Amino acid sequence: MKFSKFFSNLQEAPWYRSFLDPLITEIGNEGKLLDIGTGSGKLIQILSVEKSIDCIGVDTNDDMLKEAKIKLDNDNIQLLKIEANQKLPLENNSFDYITICSVLFHLKNNDIDLMLKDAKRLLRENGKIIVLTPTGKGNFFKLSRNYFSLKNYGIYIWYSVTKNRARLWNNNKYLEEYTIQNKLEYKSKTVMNGFAQIEIIE
Ligand SMILES: C[S@@+](CC[C@H](N)C(=O)[O-])C[C@H]1O[C@@H](n2cnc3c(N)ncnc32)[C@H](O)[C@@H]1O
Repeated sequence: MKFSKFFSNLQEAPWYRSFLDPLITEIGNEGKLLDIGTGSGKLIQILSVEKSIDCIGVDTNDDMLKEAKIKLDNDNIQLLKIEANQKLPLENNSFDYITICSVLFHLKNNDIDLMLKDAKRLLRENGKIIVLTPTGKGNFFKLSRNYFSLKNYGIYIWYSVTKNRARLWNNNKYLEEYTIQNKLEYKSKTVMNGFAQIEIIE
């Protein structure tokens, strides 16, 4: 099985919805949203249906986008293949929300800065950049206490493969520093019983 298919299946379990919920709560019922590193498209699938918001999902990986296409057939969604570290072919000031979910903590600092610079260009006044990342905190016992179910077996894989980079991201406070240097507003919250962190730049 291709990794993209495996990843897409993983997102169909209840625990994945618990991961995305704090981000979904931040999104209103109108406007335009860009999801950078959309992967197999679960987030924009939910948002386009539950919030009726126009969504564009972009990703560098063809296989992920193929999976997203299988999942998404709503009129209010567009998918776009992009090149890493390039300005996106989208107009300045055109989005109310830019979501970046489980992406930044995998990237090098220089690549993070390029992505955020472009996100700032694309964001409308009063728009929000919302970043969701695992924290890598907790342990298997706490994971089981909160999420044990046969359907949720994928959470153990997710926790194990993300925890080291997630802990680094969490400890480095990269986004907080970035927002201070760029005179932006920053908020962060620990969510999903301590297993994830949502960061909002305004
Ligand atoms: C761990 S997956 C997360 C997918 C999705 N956001 C989610 O939460 O399910 C990371 C995704 O980011 C994409 N990606 C990596 N570097 C990227 C970049 N520079 N620009 C856009 N997408 C990128 C990968 O191809 C992959 O699909």
